[in-house]
Amino acid sequence: MAPVHIPSALSFELLGKCSVTKARAATLHLPHGTVPLPIFMPVATQASLKGLTPEQLEETGCKLCLNNTYHLGLKPGQATLDAVGGAHKFQSWPHNILTDSGGFQMVSLLKLAKITEEGVRFLSPHDGSPMLLTPEHSIALQNSIGSDIIMQLDDVLVTTSPDLARMKEAMERSVRWLDRCIQAHKYPERQNLFCIIQGGLDLELRRQCTAEMVARDTPGIAIGGLSGGEAKDAYCKVVDTCTGLLPEKKPRYVMGVGYPEDLVVSVALGADMFDCVWPTRTARFGNAITAHGVLNLRNAMYSTDFGPIEEGCTCSCCRSVEDGGLGITRAYIYHVTAKETAGAHLLTMHNVQYQLNLMKSIREAILEDRYPKFLKEFFGKLYDAKS
Ligand code: GUN
Ligand code: ZN
Repeated sequence: MAPVHIPSALSFELLGKCSVTKARAATLHLPHGTVPLPIFMPVATQASLKGLTPEQLEETGCKLCLNNTYHLGLKPGQATLDAVGGAHKFQSWPHNILTDSGGFQMVSLLKLAKITEEGVRFLSPHDGSPMLLTPEHSIALQNSIGSDIIMQLDDVLVTTSPDLARMKEAMERSVRWLDRCIQAHKYPERQNLFCIIQGGLDLELRRQCTAEMVARDTPGIAIGGLSGGEAKDAYCKVVDTCTGLLPEKKPRYVMGVGYPEDLVVSVALGADMFDCVWPTRTARFGNAITAHGVLNLRNAMYSTDFGPIEEGCTCSCCRSVEDGGLGITRAYIYHVTAKETAGAHLLTMHNVQYQLNLMKSIREAILEDRYPKFLKEFFGKLYDAKS
């Protein structure tokens, strides 16, 4: 098919590249302000980051967070979003929002979702009535949400089983659905539509899909179909193959990835943007992310540990009272986290800050061309004895 050109509501400023790996540092200019790349985007599924107020999220320095079309489309629903003037106003969030298109959430949450060429059929979780999410409907919802980055509806396989025929069908259907999304998109001058590369773990399918997607010239490009528990080497080969075929001057988003070790490796493979529910979800299980690994603060060994969650952390929870923080100790989290929600809120604050600070130090290391040394130190600390 002939390449189509879609207007863009972003500009991508490449600031530096690592001389050894494929890591890049850039600034992405979006309708609601600039964001530094590489970036981790916290997930506020229902227009709210579980455990944080919009103000607390703002305090972490987050400039781009995720919402889900599927959840917002069901509740509050399109009419309410139109009435209030979109999701930024609805959740009092002055910075950027990216919305996922909904198909992945349905397929992963609702076992009964059925995919046909028309779209994804599913039963409403509210009243069980049959519903159909088409590429056109997903884009109409995202146009009402008003997110700065919108995602195409894609045909995602949530299994890593190598059914090559089904994988090929899903990849080719995702390309056809991208064309329908481009046609349906009402506001390309103020919302950036990203394509999503599929093709499972098959590198030839990934190459074909990347070529088809790149020809559509969307403002940004995502790599999907990962984060499903695949082996690390298979994951790395897919990311490396895709980024090797992508234009240099566009943002690259690997969907659903967020463990610190996966972030630093994926950046080295040329990826710029990431999202994952894990940092916020694991906080609700009492887990703190630190440079030395994940600590479960429900463990009795922390009951008399009066240090911060992580020494030197700049989050509101860990910073001392003298430094304007809350001066929360591990012992306090241990004390409240089993029965009170306060522990989850405090850990969420810390975990989101950890992820954002990690990306900041990654970016600084790339800009100073010392990313290989950064990687060595990062893994050295991670696999050192826990402190
Ligand atoms: N989130 C994690 N992986 C995916 C994917 O492949 N597609 C979409 N739409 N969302 C995702
Ligand atoms: Zn902290």
